[in-house]
Amino acid sequence: MRTVTVNASKHYCVHICSHLLPRLGEYITEVHPTCKVAIVSDSNIWPIYGAQAVQSLQDAGYTVTYYVLPAGEESKNSEQYISILNFLAENAITRSDMLIALGGGVVGDITGFAAATYLRGISYVQIPTSLLAMVDSSVGGKTAIDLPAGKNLAGAFYQPELVLCDISTLNTLPEAVFIDGCAEVIKYGILFDKDLFHHLTENGLSFDREYVISRCISLKANVVCADEFDRGIRQQLNLGHTIGHSIEKLSNFTVSHGRAVAIGMAVIAKASANLNLCGQDLYEGISVLLQQFSLPVHTDLSATALASGALSDKKRSGNTIQLVLPHSIGDCFLYPISVNELSSFIEKGL
Ligand code: GLY
Repeated sequence: MRTVTVNASKHYCVHICSHLLPRLGEYITEVHPTCKVAIVSDSNIWPIYGAQAVQSLQDAGYTVTYYVLPAGEESKNSEQYISILNFLAENAITRSDMLIALGGGVVGDITGFAAATYLRGISYVQIPTSLLAMVDSSVGGKTAIDLPAGKNLAGAFYQPELVLCDISTLNTLPEAVFIDGCAEVIKYGILFDKDLFHHLTENGLSFDREYVISRCISLKANVVCADEFDRGIRQQLNLGHTIGHSIEKLSNFTVSHGRAVAIGMAVIAKASANLNLCGQDLYEGISVLLQQFSLPVHTDLSATALASGALSDKKRSGNTIQLVLPHSIGDCFLYPISVNELSSFIEKGL
């Protein structure tokens, strides 16, 4: 087992290993005494892993209740959020009890936000079951729901007590969803780690899962420790996300997050190369690796549409948006750009 420690406002461990779920109860007792546990999961994950999680927790002395969301991004909304809060209240969950998020990014984000706000904050544990949630959303305490105007527009920074990445759960993940998570993995290579980028180039989809997931989490933990509240270096984790979120929104979420971010990273790299902010070979290397993972690098959407879709982006501050541009593999930088210039910048990357 590999363990990464996150030393943010709360210190907690992220354990990465196969077959963690059957020992869930043991791991939870290390961070929280026996109590009532409310598990939030979704309709894809619960039928596969729910019984195992409940059994392990009950064996360790916990009383378990559960709430199952319909699977999909559409569930990350205010109605489901309020339903979860009502469910917690109806089940008399108190401040000494805890929540567990068992599922992908949607489950993690909405459960974290419910934990941050129910009774003004109760403990929660993240058990991410998708690659994307393991390497990104379950670590670092960003919790949120979507609003009609855009993704993740209501949320809180609220760190979990523990994150358990059971990499055996990836075996039941549809390949398309696994590939989606690979976009975030590639992102860490571009941002911070040339060796990781090369490992991915050499191994493609057969990369060493325990090594790669731990490495991404460790890179993310460093960033979160340095800038928990997203005022500086943490914004670099948004590489490809301004355009990516715009593509997701304009496609009515028919283009998945990872695929949209892959296009976003390719467009940003191409625009940077065409503006001589990085070399053409850098753009080509990024584009080749994304395609090696069957990720898209082009969109038919116009620069004007992509720029207008980005206007409700959280990374906007007044009339400025912080883009993240690659300088070389493992070295990126923040590039503030005015809202008026965004469209012509994107145009260079299409
Ligand atoms: N998902 C980006 C972050 O945690 O900052």
